[in-house]
Amino acid sequence: ADPDPLQDFCVADLKSSPSVNGFPCKSALEVTSGDFFYDGLSMEGNTTNVFGVNVNAGNVLAFPGLNTLGISMNRVDLAPGGVNPPHLHPRSTESGIVVEGMLLVGFVTTGNVFYSKVLSAGEMFVIPRGLVHFQHNVGDGKALIFTAFNSQLPGSVIVPSTLFASTPSVPNDVLTKAFQVDEAVINGIKSKFGM
Ligand code: GLV
Ligand code: MN
Repeated sequence: ADPDPLQDFCVADLKSSPSVNGFPCKSALEVTSGDFFYDGLSMEGNTTNVFGVNVNAGNVLAFPGLNTLGISMNRVDLAPGGVNPPHLHPRSTESGIVVEGMLLVGFVTTGNVFYSKVLSAGEMFVIPRGLVHFQHNVGDGKALIFTAFNSQLPGSVIVPSTLFASTPSVPNDVLTKAFQVDEAVINGIKSKFGM
């Protein structure tokens, strides 16, 4: 979904502030082979957290060589029972491949239709741009997937934290109405996020 590049590459100079789209290029004289390779997704992530998931984002901020090229990848590790919570990417479609384990992968359309399937190693999925989706490790062991995006910086709107852990807080009046529950329920959820 990113714009087409107008040159071979434009390795991001992350020290400069982002411009209208992406980062300024670092000087061609300073570009080396190292700018086009990234080993940050090689290690297993630490899944010791409430969701039992670790998302390691190989986007332009981590891998400056991606700047202007319109693609990026994530590594997602999930503990048994772990869930990559419902989230969406405002700037990108996502595809993914299961490397290890068994996962329920699903998304919900703008018309509230839920599509899902349990996948195992070697199987791929696609999540249309901007739709809420999740991955849930339903196997006995750990699970590993790699995801790919048609954006150098897909962005991630994580539904639970967006609504219950923003700064400042979304007013309880809005959330009690939206979810049709008492304020105690909303405060209970907010407290789980340290709010
Ligand atoms: C998985 O949904 C990811 O965004 O990497
Ligand atoms: Mn995603």
